[in-house]
Amino acid sequence: MATGVFITLEGPDGSGKSSQMRLLVEFLSQKGYQVFATREPGGTRISDQVRQVLLNRMENQEMHPRTETLLFCASRAQLVEEIIRPRLQRGEIVISDRYADSTLAYQGYGHQRELQPLVELLNYTTGGLSPDLTLLLDVDPQTGLSRRRDGGEEWNRLDAYALAFHQRVRQGYFEMSRQQPHRWCTIDASLSMDAVQDAMRVAVLERLQLLVNRA
Ligand code: TYD
Repeated sequence: MATGVFITLEGPDGSGKSSQMRLLVEFLSQKGYQVFATREPGGTRISDQVRQVLLNRMENQEMHPRTETLLFCASRAQLVEEIIRPRLQRGEIVISDRYADSTLAYQGYGHQRELQPLVELLNYTTGGLSPDLTLLLDVDPQTGLSRRRDGGEEWNRLDAYALAFHQRVRQGYFEMSRQQPHRWCTIDASLSMDAVQDAMRVAVLERLQLLVNRA
């Protein structure tokens, strides 16, 4: 592949994204693709420091939503320039567990902020780098949040927001996928692990084929 392929995973908390992503990366690597996996917030030395500030719910309870938004963007700007863009330029597949759409979903739709300024901020943050494919692992927030608790995972600062917040996040994802249907693929994450993984593989292989044919 002359230029790389950028794939992002989105979805509400507890949609199983992280485990599914590991399986997908393994699958693609076994098929011989050069794949690099990363996650947000974080993924570089600087971005990981920002992650600590963002997710430390005990210490940073007074954080204003605008501060939160800018910190997510700061983490992302560094990740894009230090990791994602150079790897895409080398022809790799880069898969990110969350990307700019998370900011629009959580800080925009979730916090009910005006969307247009956020869209502009995100464009600035990423230098216009948009994914080739976004897999939305969709699950209703009630299921997602209780899965997380049952799995013994600690709730983070953002999990603690009311359920209504997570419902708005979900609707936000739906709206974004309606606006750019060619980029988004929605997968029912309430299905079994295997069924979800199969659907992800099909979507990714189809997109890779499309991009190869287009090149
Ligand atoms: P994390 O523990 O990585 O959760 P998950 O496994 O669900 O990705 O925490 C990331 C949290 O940050 C998650 O609740 C979503 C939220 N988030 C935003 O609110 N805005 C963003 O731009 C990003 C990247 C994440």
